[in-house]
Amino acid sequence: MVNSWWRRSARALAIALLLSFAAPALAADDAADEVGYQFSTDWTGPHTAVWLRHLARFMKKPDIHGLEIGCFEGRSSIWFMERIATHESSTMSCIDVFTDAIEARFDNNIEVAGFSDRMKKHKGYSQDVLRKLDYASFDFIYIDGCHLASCVLTDAVLAWDLLKPGGMIIFDDYVWALEKAKTQRPKVAIDAFMTVYANHIRVRERGYQVIIEKLAPRSDRELVGKPVVHSEEWEKDYEKKKKD
Ligand SMILES: C[S@@+](CC[C@H](N)C(=O)[O-])C[C@H]1O[C@@H](n2cnc3c(N)ncnc32)[C@H](O)[C@@H]1O
Repeated sequence: MVNSWWRRSARALAIALLLSFAAPALAADDAADEVGYQFSTDWTGPHTAVWLRHLARFMKKPDIHGLEIGCFEGRSSIWFMERIATHESSTMSCIDVFTDAIEARFDNNIEVAGFSDRMKKHKGYSQDVLRKLDYASFDFIYIDGCHLASCVLTDAVLAWDLLKPGGMIIFDDYVWALEKAKTQRPKVAIDAFMTVYANHIRVRERGYQVIIEKLAPRSDRELVGKPVVHSEEWEKDYEKKKKD
């Protein structure tokens, strides 16, 4: 009797200790609310095993910079900072249109996680904000904002130039809502991007999500593909036509 009381007490103490040490990693758990997080939906948990497999190379390295398009309440952003962009010199940039309520939850969650100093928040449409960010400044970019095909394609093309060679783009919801019209979901945009950039990417994952790696560095001779260079004959003809 006394023995089993001791066993139960010791077990409860061990669980309490484990939870208190594990607190920073609780973002994806039900127990998250207990440490002050405010989450309504978990869109992160199902993907973390795949992210770990492909992004592990960035773990613990200094100066790793991630960008997320569509951060919502910050659950995935916090996961990236806890597991991938972990170094004190690494950052996460987040773009979202944010309603006031969602922004308040995002701010709370980033603060509870202790990441306010390493988080760069951009409120606005990704299609506007992406044009203002620095060229080749990110190691990984998660595209999970507006799900219309036109938005996803624009986000992907704008994100491409912001990505360092060797960097990764993660597309969410590749096969989401296949019953919807093609223009209302991401798949056709992700397929188009992979087709057009085929010579400059390695497709690392093609399941519910797609993960591509950027192979092409930018140089004077090569922007994305081989630039169109007109022949000397064409140039002469063009100059002549201009004079006529
Ligand atoms: C599915 S949620 C993102 C979930 C989040 N990545 C996670 O895993 O927890 C999509 C988010 O994209 C944002 N969003 C939708 N359209 C956007 C746009 N054009 N620009 C920026 N954010 C957008 C929404 O406000 C919403 O918070």
